[in-house]
Amino acid sequence: MSAKQVAWNRMFSAVGMQNTSDHYNDYAKHYEEDCISLGYTEPKVAADMLKQVMPNFEDENLQVLDIAAGTGLVADDLRAANFQGKIDGIDGSAKMLEKAKEKGNYRNLVEEFILPDKPLPYDDNSYDVVICLGSLSVPHVQPEVIKEFMRVTKCGGLIIFSVATTPRSAGYEKKLVEIAKSMEGSMQWENVRMVKGAIYEVNFETKTEDPENAKTGTSFYLYRRL
Ligand SMILES: C[S@@+](CC[C@H](N)C(=O)[O-])C[C@H]1O[C@@H](n2cnc3c(N)ncnc32)[C@H](O)[C@@H]1O
Repeated sequence: MSAKQVAWNRMFSAVGMQNTSDHYNDYAKHYEEDCISLGYTEPKVAADMLKQVMPNFEDENLQVLDIAAGTGLVADDLRAANFQGKIDGIDGSAKMLEKAKEKGNYRNLVEEFILPDKPLPYDDNSYDVVICLGSLSVPHVQPEVIKEFMRVTKCGGLIIFSVATTPRSAGYEKKLVEIAKSMEGSMQWENVRMVKGAIYEVNFETKTEDPENAKTGTSFYLYRRL
């Protein structure tokens, strides 16, 4: 079996998991090798988007919150793009966070499972940027939590998140967009940019490695808190 196929089978089983933290505690040892095999580029795309829209991207006083930080791939790509500020992270999996901590890119890491009716453990207006990648999906972080992303962001700060655009996740994305638009309608935030990309170089729906069809889509949403 090819490395890509092995990675694909493992990552695919992650998508359907209900007991998410247990799963990721087990999966932590393979997560990054599978991301490489599958061509996962979301953290790099998000770091590049932020760099494009933030003239002060390299300011060491900036504070970023990485939601569902996992093994810290987001911080890896922020640092690779020369981000000099502080990065905090939160995730429900202790083992994923252990990997993130080893790299030394985070100021503070919190192990906590994020639920729609539970506030994030941060004060209002705390962060210049809030990031959540690869984690807004049915068995992971629920769409209502984007209201909390906004609450903990400073006025004028940025919120960036991704969501898969596969047929299976269409209902989830629809709900997410409804909430995001209602927040726009009530002048809580404004949309800065929406970019379509690819999460993986495989197609999760058809399970094909055929290069013509081998893509799983994603949307990146970038908002500014008003
Ligand atoms: C696919 S990984 C993405 C990690 C990282 N953001 C990245 O881009 O590599 C999903 C992560 O979300 C975490 N996670 C999923 N649901 C969560 C929840 N409700 N609360 C906290 N963490 C959650 C998992 O533990 C896992 O580390």
